[in-house]
Amino acid sequence: MSVFVDLDARSYTVHFNSLATVPSLLEDTGLSPGRCLLVTDENVARHYKTPLVRGLSNAGWTVRSIVLPPGEQTKSASCLHRLYENALTWGIDRQTPVLALGGGVIGDLAGFAAATLLRGLPLVQLPTSLLAQVDASVGGKTAINHETGKNLIGAFYQPDVVCADPHTLDTLPMREYTSGMAEVIKHALIRAPALFETLEEHLVSVMSRKDRETISAVIESAVSVKANVVSADEREEGQRAILNFGHTFAHALERVTGYGTFTHGEAVALGMRAGLYLSHQRHPEALPRERLDHVLRAVPIESDPSTLSFSDLYAAMSADKKNEGDTIRFVLLEQLGEAYVTGSVTEADARHAWRFACSD
Ligand code: NAD
Ligand code: GLY
Repeated sequence: MSVFVDLDARSYTVHFNSLATVPSLLEDTGLSPGRCLLVTDENVARHYKTPLVRGLSNAGWTVRSIVLPPGEQTKSASCLHRLYENALTWGIDRQTPVLALGGGVIGDLAGFAAATLLRGLPLVQLPTSLLAQVDASVGGKTAINHETGKNLIGAFYQPDVVCADPHTLDTLPMREYTSGMAEVIKHALIRAPALFETLEEHLVSVMSRKDRETISAVIESAVSVKANVVSADEREEGQRAILNFGHTFAHALERVTGYGTFTHGEAVALGMRAGLYLSHQRHPEALPRERLDHVLRAVPIESDPSTLSFSDLYAAMSADKKNEGDTIRFVLLEQLGEAYVTGSVTEADARHAWRFACSD
């Protein structure tokens, strides 16, 4: 199983293969054994680092592993500096690949290191969280956070190859799994009515990680949505912005709560509920709000968002990097599978939408 991301000279394939195939995938991608940097976090390293390093070593690679603390705080200038120090004092050249083994945090950080070290090293994404498999590892957005906001320092930098091993999801904590499902639902809502229907039909077994066959099919469809959108608009000059459905609220929520109270996926699920409210307000005939909301509410939210100050949230939304001037940009749905970007949402509407998102 694989999905192709069509970007002319920078095209690549997303393979849904075992991590044991990574050495041969590297060879097939034209990367010859030599030095490579393996970047991961402590949780992921515990399960997957040793066999991967052994496989790479057996294939002739000399691996330098950098194991970072888990969590959003790792997408920081200090961890990036740690990668730079490790890489540059060890000795790398422009052929030294960076292997990002982990969730979206490792993918974004290691991806940005690959984009900037020696003006660009080969990048191999080895996503191990559901969110990273269906979203973060595909499309070339790399970044670290800044105290003034999320993902504010970054680059578009496509990987050479992606290998998403479905079996790594077995060790993913349940909360991270259901959070990743938020991005799957997002892809269904903005572009894939058939995927939405599959999710609807198998909601309980998919959300409880019980139906492997359907889950694999759902992941492949979700990656295909991302690949198609990115292939048509790599640098977010147009339609790629629809991938930010739910993100205006989500990024503000993460920022106001200091990253970590809500997972990224939980924040996106809440943001999509708010987006659904706004969409239904504008297109009541075309959007079956209760039906779509039922699927969105299948993502459990561990913390209570209703106690937050909406004014703080709105202030954070006003500072979003995707805004144009003073206009806050929201992605809304016109109907299931069709999304668009608008700047015409009033503060009062956003407040009502947030109240809807937080309601039981
Ligand atoms: P994450 O990387 O923090 O991973 C979540 C947790 O799961 C971590 O504790 C990690 O150690 C653990 N983990 C990951 N895989 C595991 C496995 N197989 N077994 C056991 N534990 C495992 O978070 P995430 O949800 O993967 O990614 C969120 C990040 O991705 C955010 O920073 C977000 O901004 C970014 N993101 C980027 C893009 C993009 O296009 N670049 C898209 C969406 C999200
Ligand atoms: N996750 C949004 C994007 O890749 O554009």
